[in-house]
Amino acid sequence: MLERPLFEPPALIDLDPSAGGVEVHLEAVEATHAFLPDRPTGVWAYRDASGPDLKATVPGPLLRAKQGDRVVVKFTNRLPVPTTIHWHGLRLPNDMDGTTASQRAVAPGESFEYRFVAGDAGSFWYHPHVAADEQIERGLYAPFVVEDLEAEPFAVEAERYLVLDDVKVEADGSLSTSTDALDLMMGRSGNVVLVNGQREPEILARPGSRERWRLVNAANGRYFQLELEQARFRVIGWDGGLIAEPYEVERLLVAPGERYDVLVEWAGEEGDRRELRTVHYDRGHDMPDPGPKRLLGVVLAGGRAPAPPEVPAALRAVPRLSEVISQTPLRRFVLSEQEEGGAGPRFFINGESWPFNRPVMVSQGQTEVWEIHSDTEMDHPFHLHGMFFEVLERGGVPELRRGWKDTVNVPAGQTVRFSVTYTPLGMWMFHCHILEHAERGMMGEVHVMP
Ligand code: C2O
Ligand code: CU
Repeated sequence: MLERPLFEPPALIDLDPSAGGVEVHLEAVEATHAFLPDRPTGVWAYRDASGPDLKATVPGPLLRAKQGDRVVVKFTNRLPVPTTIHWHGLRLPNDMDGTTASQRAVAPGESFEYRFVAGDAGSFWYHPHVAADEQIERGLYAPFVVEDLEAEPFAVEAERYLVLDDVKVEADGSLSTSTDALDLMMGRSGNVVLVNGQREPEILARPGSRERWRLVNAANGRYFQLELEQARFRVIGWDGGLIAEPYEVERLLVAPGERYDVLVEWAGEEGDRRELRTVHYDRGHDMPDPGPKRLLGVVLAGGRAPAPPEVPAALRAVPRLSEVISQTPLRRFVLSEQEEGGAGPRFFINGESWPFNRPVMVSQGQTEVWEIHSDTEMDHPFHLHGMFFEVLERGGVPELRRGWKDTVNVPAGQTVRFSVTYTPLGMWMFHCHILEHAERGMMGEVHVMP
């Protein structure tokens, strides 16, 4: 019935029979993937290594755990280059964070065992933290769900993880090797937009039904400004799990690295078609509007669904991560860029360009307010490892919604403030999640000391 049914990455097979434990075997390999019909593209991808026949996919297999599970990921690198895995968003011990600040990269042919407790429920994702601009672009990214054991499950007909991306492919299907000046400035932009590695896939949904979507933007630089035809997004969660109270929007901006959990409901009749699309968002540098792009087709079929129950007005008590008092020390970060002759732009945080940065030294248990200012003509999605934060204000407008974030968009010329408590010890990275910016300097480290 559907021409291109949506690919939903299967979960990694759990080899640990005990309750409370998850053990999975994962490999990064060279593989092929059809972004365009009949024209396979050479990619780098994750594969479930628990069986010989399991194929590498883009996105990689879903890592699924329950809140509190002890997770063991036995990882083997079968790529020709060193790599690591970063568990984007999850709070875990520093030596499991998968960055070059926390471990030696896993060399070709080598293995590494990641062990952590999945303490936070939410929608996360995993990806390399070595040459991330290249490795994620080539296909190394995958969804990661930690199920909530405390919250009431939502009554939905389907729960899907939609991984948004774009890729630059040549007519013959090969991955483009060109990263032009505009790509360096805005993040590499693809000519094919993808949902779960596919161009314009489709789903079936019953008229009147409700679904839960977990959304992540895995693109190097593209911003997704999402719209649904004749439907709205009811936002129930952010990066750090469920938010305090749901809210509805017509348009949902998802910057690189961010996650949103939403409920969608399909009003309409049997046979109606709907679509999810991305529309222009002005992220700076006077980029022209390329017009809307279709992401996902929805076909209403299968008979009318019974009316879904009311969504509760309060989803969870979101504990304050940090007590903000007027005496809370303020730490300022200024994001800037500079043209460096023929070598293209370099990017800076407080005038320093990674890897030539000095770590910010802080004490465990302290709360501070971070003020991030974009001193450039463009937006930057700012990501902090190892900790959630609470957004206090964006561009002078107080944030009234209560929820946890690990990535926040800082609009061109504007300032965002958030509070954070330094709980976990170790060296944690923070950076712009436009991967070309991060790898060209817009990255730093905060060292939490006892
Ligand atoms: Cu999603 Cu430092 O990364
Ligand atoms: Cu940036």
